[in-house]
Amino acid sequence: MSVPVEPTPVEPSQHRSAPANTGAGEKGRAGAAQAGPEALRPHAEDAFAAELAALAAQDDRPRPARWKLSPWAVATYLLGGTLPDGTVITPKYVGPRRIVEVAVTTLATDRALLLLGVPGTAKTWVSEHLAAAVSGDSTLLVQGTAGTPEEAIRYGWNYAQLLAHGPSRDALVPSPVMRAMAEGMTARVEELTRIPADVQDTLITILSEKTLPIPELGAEVQAVRGFNLIATANDRDRGVNDLSSALRRRFNTVVLPLPESPEAEVDIVSRRVDQIGRSLDLPAVPDGVDEIRRVVTVFRELRDGVTTDRRTKLKSPSGTLSTAEAISVVTGGLALAAHFGDGVLRAGDVAAGILGAVVRDPAADRVVWQEYLETVVRERDGWKDFYRACREVSA
Ligand SMILES: Nc1ncnc2c1ncn2[C@@H]1O[C@H](COP(=O)(O)OP(=O)(O)OP(=O)(O)O)[C@@H](O)[C@H]1O
Ligand SMILES: [Mg+2]
Repeated sequence: MSVPVEPTPVEPSQHRSAPANTGAGEKGRAGAAQAGPEALRPHAEDAFAAELAALAAQDDRPRPARWKLSPWAVATYLLGGTLPDGTVITPKYVGPRRIVEVAVTTLATDRALLLLGVPGTAKTWVSEHLAAAVSGDSTLLVQGTAGTPEEAIRYGWNYAQLLAHGPSRDALVPSPVMRAMAEGMTARVEELTRIPADVQDTLITILSEKTLPIPELGAEVQAVRGFNLIATANDRDRGVNDLSSALRRRFNTVVLPLPESPEAEVDIVSRRVDQIGRSLDLPAVPDGVDEIRRVVTVFRELRDGVTTDRRTKLKSPSGTLSTAEAISVVTGGLALAAHFGDGVLRAGDVAAGILGAVVRDPAADRVVWQEYLETVVRERDGWKDFYRACREVSA
């Protein structure tokens, strides 16, 4: 017997599930308050609804079953472009086009997509936007942790119902993955390698047989066309709960690289800071790009262990110093400039943030930072204000 987890006709706006560990689906439908435009961080499909609608309207290429857009339009949504009617699609991901094309194409096949990379390389970001563009819903999400139980991937039970009436369709609480299977949507699993290995293996049947057995009901949920899954995993977690080879074979792995050039990284940071600043009602800072360039330079040099001119070798601190951290440092600086400064982003506004990002381990990282400050920053032309600001907060 096959039990359809009914694709209950839900309004798109109700179609939200809180990113929880278990049974997010039902809980989300019944209980999630709709923040609407007041949401602190709207979901990708809401934040970029206008772009997605414009793409859907002008996209005449073939769409795989239940996809909202063709693969070409999904790639355009991620990489940006201008549509025939002049609508500008902003780039969400800045990086090699081929990577995005492979990722999108994978979702149209019977293999799932694994986004792998060091922290802060936009794995979560790309996964959210892919789900938003392909299925119009990025919220069918399982957050992987060391404590993620099998129910988070399969299904749980409403215990009151279960005790009162025994196992039944009504007592079943489907997981986001189960709902995605039943409705032909994209499910997301964050931080797959943090999930204990035996729980990870729950995905094997789902991904190879495309079915989820429910032995308690003598039933199963069969995935309908359109279902696929995007998982993210962090390079740094390698060895924590490595994927079994059986599971790895079900995934097509796409590695997201660090931004290849300083310009690309400055571009990413500027764009995101601008978006975040707008959502936080921070005033736009017109001359901020010089300071952004400086933050990016410091992060890249410390990350790479060598100065930009390749002349001086540096020690790297223990933290990641990813693009994501650079974005946080600049956003923090922008808030300082807006609330306590004259609205212009200056060295003093980013110095404390940089220190916090670089010095994670108070003993070892502080030595690395001091050395960098005295041997590189101090000697660099035009960086006197930055040196002074960093000295002040480091003291
Ligand atoms: N190449 C890029 N293009 C666009 N945005 C980027 C890029 N690299 C990083 N970002 C930005 O960095 C931020 C953090 O990205 P995200 O949280 O997706 O990283 P992650 O790879 O999931 O990190 P973690 O491993 O820590 O979970 C996002 O706001 C994203 O916009
Ligand atoms: Mg992530």
